Amino acid sequence: MAVENRKILVTSALPYANGSIHLGHMLEHIQTDIWARFQKLRGNQCIAVCADDTHGTPIMLKAQKLGMTPEEMIAKVSEEHQADFADFLVNYDNYHSTHSEENRKWSSEIYNRLNDSGYIKTRVIEQLFDPEKQMFLPDRFVTGTCPKCKAEDQNGDNCEVCGATYSPVELINPKSVVSGATPVMKDSEHYFFDLPQFKQVLQEWTTSGALQSEMANKLNEWFESGLQQWDISRDAPYFGFEIPGTDGKKFFYVWLDAPIGYMGSFDNLCQKRDDLDFNEYWNKDSKTELYHFIGKDIIYFHSLFWPAMLHGANLRKPTNVFAHGYVTVNGAKMSKSRGTFIKARTYLDHLHPEYLRYYYAAKLNDRIDDIDLNLEDFAQRVNSDMVGKLVNIASRTAGFIAKRFDGKLADGIENPELLAEFQNAQTSIAALFEGREYGKAIREVMALADKANAYIADMAPWSMAKQEGMEQKTHEVCSMGIHLFRILMTYLKPVLPQMAANVEAFLNAELRWDNINDTLTGHEINKFKALIQRIEPAKIEAIIEATKADLAAEQAAEPQAEADVSTGANDELAKDPIADTIDFDTFAKTDLRIARIAKAEHVDGAKKLIKMTLDLGGETRQVFSGIKSAYKPEDLEGRLTIMVANLAPRKMKFGMSEGMVLAAGPGGEDIYLLSPDDGAIPGQRVM
Ligand code: 2FM
Ligand code: ZN
Repeated sequence: MAVENRKILVTSALPYANGSIHLGHMLEHIQTDIWARFQKLRGNQCIAVCADDTHGTPIMLKAQKLGMTPEEMIAKVSEEHQADFADFLVNYDNYHSTHSEENRKWSSEIYNRLNDSGYIKTRVIEQLFDPEKQMFLPDRFVTGTCPKCKAEDQNGDNCEVCGATYSPVELINPKSVVSGATPVMKDSEHYFFDLPQFKQVLQEWTTSGALQSEMANKLNEWFESGLQQWDISRDAPYFGFEIPGTDGKKFFYVWLDAPIGYMGSFDNLCQKRDDLDFNEYWNKDSKTELYHFIGKDIIYFHSLFWPAMLHGANLRKPTNVFAHGYVTVNGAKMSKSRGTFIKARTYLDHLHPEYLRYYYAAKLNDRIDDIDLNLEDFAQRVNSDMVGKLVNIASRTAGFIAKRFDGKLADGIENPELLAEFQNAQTSIAALFEGREYGKAIREVMALADKANAYIADMAPWSMAKQEGMEQKTHEVCSMGIHLFRILMTYLKPVLPQMAANVEAFLNAELRWDNINDTLTGHEINKFKALIQRIEPAKIEAIIEATKADLAAEQAAEPQAEADVSTGANDELAKDPIADTIDFDTFAKTDLRIARIAKAEHVDGAKKLIKMTLDLGGETRQVFSGIKSAYKPEDLEGRLTIMVANLAPRKMKFGMSEGMVLAAGPGGEDIYLLSPDDGAIPGQRVM
């Protein structure tokens, strides 16, 4: 019997088909999967679809580089992506591709409808063109000298040295990344989606639903600064869909057909399943619910362009868009050189997927905050919660049931109040899952697990069993343990589907939301088998090492593979030779001290700076440091570091900086703040 009866379609953002799935992607796919599994468990029809995002210049060029056709490359990547998701127990009802007939059909259909209604405009624009490759260059495929600070080798649209943003045509000495040629300016007619016509519709959509407050604020800022027409066309050569009526000359920009890929994937599923009606889900007056789980970087596409396109094409708009933050590892951005840019497959080679599912769930909420995967905390939390608390309930009681009571649970309930408390928690736990407050749901489940363990410890069935006349009581107490465990595992079934399946085999009963209130009195259960192992810290080390080895292999194959990749230890001295010799007295003039970072804050308006209050064990100093690209303020607080304490104070735009903290690394996410060994205390001199 269904508890509820809603019809829901959910999606995760479509991963690009030119790279591996990593633990950053997994946060979102796990978040979506838990929500979809929860809805299904509640008796709703919930369909989860995804696909690979296959079009665009980067994919076209990567395939060229690999000596493959784009079709060959995306087929291979799709296989890998699907295996990664399946092995993380992420269960999409359909996983498709944006390079599909369904998507081609819907992209053309939506475009034609928009065009017929006067929402498509054309105009000629001037762009950088690679004369050698005979192609227009997207911003990221141009480099040159920053027009503001004159730093060389900067990106097409922003400078990493001074933080300026500009248009690639402003770059001094621009260069095509693709061929090395000097680009020329060239005119081309482009097609634009006339977003400003949808301002009112979008404002209504923003205020009618229950958008996350951070998202609603962002949208309001965008409304205030004015909506712009959106360039939806790209010139050949381009890997994508031709724009109807352009004779193979113009293609849809990848971001036009990417969200339509959600429809394409669902359409593909409808062709395989008789019980699904495409129009019921997508018609303008649809009564079904549509939710997109996305990262915070693509809110603009999903909350402006996408609802406007759907509305303009006379289709339904999303019920809501759920954005999450980024994953940081150990408090810093995922980094290849630190070995924390961990691929899904590398993780799976060493650890069980449910550890990460549990940890992410325990940290997820309904907001857009970044989520930190602290690897030490990860192991500690999984071991203490999953092994020490949850599974412990069953492992302490199941043996008695098997050995002494023929595998049968008692006919009576030893503590009906405690059982009722566990059962009654279903309402609040369901509300928390529904509201994507998984972390709170997990906390509630673990608080119950603590109670179950305390109950078992109090009752001490192991001593009871030795006492005469306590046979029945022992039986009932151990059975209580199993009843409580069953309820907790039902709550965790969306998070831990494989463990739940193993528990179902052990209990000889299905874990269902609508049977939480039933009790398995007198029920026969099977032999208990170990459900989970502790995480060995060595496994985590192995993941980091494998990730670093991956990077080394990538670098060996292609030295300049990624911007994020540093050039390796042996080049450091060549890049930055050791300075002229100084005498000891000159060195001794630099007063280096141990400092505790008492406070660390963002600086409004500063892209790179963190403001720190450093405690020298008696006095404090305010220091601004350009380490924001590698550290989050909250992860710095409490840490010990080393500072130059006698540096003359400098007046900066945001205030006085009274010293300097020491760090190594080339910059960006590769900044390594120095820390002393344990035992050092604030104020101590460093010599
Ligand atoms: O940002 C990305 O990774 C895109 N491939 C997401 C696309 S989501 C949807 F619109 F297709
Ligand atoms: Zn600059």
